[in-house]
Amino acid sequence: MNLSALAKPAVLSQPVYEPGKPIEYVARELGLDPNSIIKLASNENPFGPSPKALAAAKLALERGELYPDGGCYALRQKLGERWGLQPSQFIVGNGSNEVIELLGHAFLGAGDEVVMGSPAFVVYKLVTLLFGAKAVEVPLRDWRHDLDAMAAAVNSRTKLVYVCSPNNPTGTTNSAEEILGFARRLPSHVVLVLDEAYAEYVEHAPDMRPLIQAGRNILCLRTFSKVYGLASLRVGYGYGSEELCALLNRVRQPFNVNAIAQAAALAALDDLEFAAKCVRETKSGLVQLATGFQRLGLETVPSCANFLLVRVGDGAKIFEALQKRGLIVRPVASYGLPEWLRITVGTHDQNSRIIDAMAELVLQRT
Ligand SMILES: Cc1ncc(COP(=O)(O)O)c(C=O)c1O
Repeated sequence: MNLSALAKPAVLSQPVYEPGKPIEYVARELGLDPNSIIKLASNENPFGPSPKALAAAKLALERGELYPDGGCYALRQKLGERWGLQPSQFIVGNGSNEVIELLGHAFLGAGDEVVMGSPAFVVYKLVTLLFGAKAVEVPLRDWRHDLDAMAAAVNSRTKLVYVCSPNNPTGTTNSAEEILGFARRLPSHVVLVLDEAYAEYVEHAPDMRPLIQAGRNILCLRTFSKVYGLASLRVGYGYGSEELCALLNRVRQPFNVNAIAQAAALAALDDLEFAAKCVRETKSGLVQLATGFQRLGLETVPSCANFLLVRVGDGAKIFEALQKRGLIVRPVASYGLPEWLRITVGTHDQNSRIIDAMAELVLQRT
């Protein structure tokens, strides 16, 4: 029997997610010293995890024989205190990616529609298609979510609406007032998912809690992968109504978040000073990158996140050339932006290296 004939049609037509290449892979492929390679491709935190999170993770590893707390009790407790919500108003996932998948499990099937910006974080579309639902992609306007057009795209089949702010891959935001107004406009049969993976880098992120407490169907997504520097451990979460989180908790695996990640996330929340320092350094790195590229005559999109879109002409060619110099960045042709690259803000030295390399490549072009 042909296995493909056994698989669900949505699996066969599923587009494949292409993650940024790991350092070791690129080193082997190009014969480079892995220590000389800089990865600025996946919007990770170049300053690493907080030392407190690292210590907590090491300690948790010593009890590696035990299953983790399947309910993430302590973490939900701490998140509840941090946000002024009940622990029952949180769903913790193996990265916020898993929470996006849980939304698919809980809500999506054939005939359903999901409204999302385009381009926006690709996992919304991948999960939508995997569950046999239709992705209704609404083009960005001036690089930002066109919330009026998104509201107009909602119909009786719409189950979920994704707003990503700051948006990946553009780094742009919609204002808090715009997002709150949009949330109030949505009909009650729709769940608004506000993906705030990069919200810590923003000064005026919207506070959705009053609307959540008033009974609106809203799930805000957060992650420990970015400003908290714990991407490898895979932990993220959503907060919303107790009812919504109970539904999502039903469809997750019993031990979906490992104990090391839980311990590190807890400790990271106790080291807000470290997170604040990372935000400060990243913001100054963003200015360094943007001004560096602009001096070279390269167009950039004003970003509020820890990455920057830069227009380089032939994105694939410049990506390859940078990679040969040991600099891994993100081509975004798959987001419909073949002339652009998405570059994560690194440390000051890393940013200088990428600006210098780009200067060389721009000179070669002229
Ligand atoms: C907008 C956005 N949401 C969610 C995620 C997923 O983050 P994680 O699964 O690591 O929590 C990412 C990762 O790059 C992202 O850019």
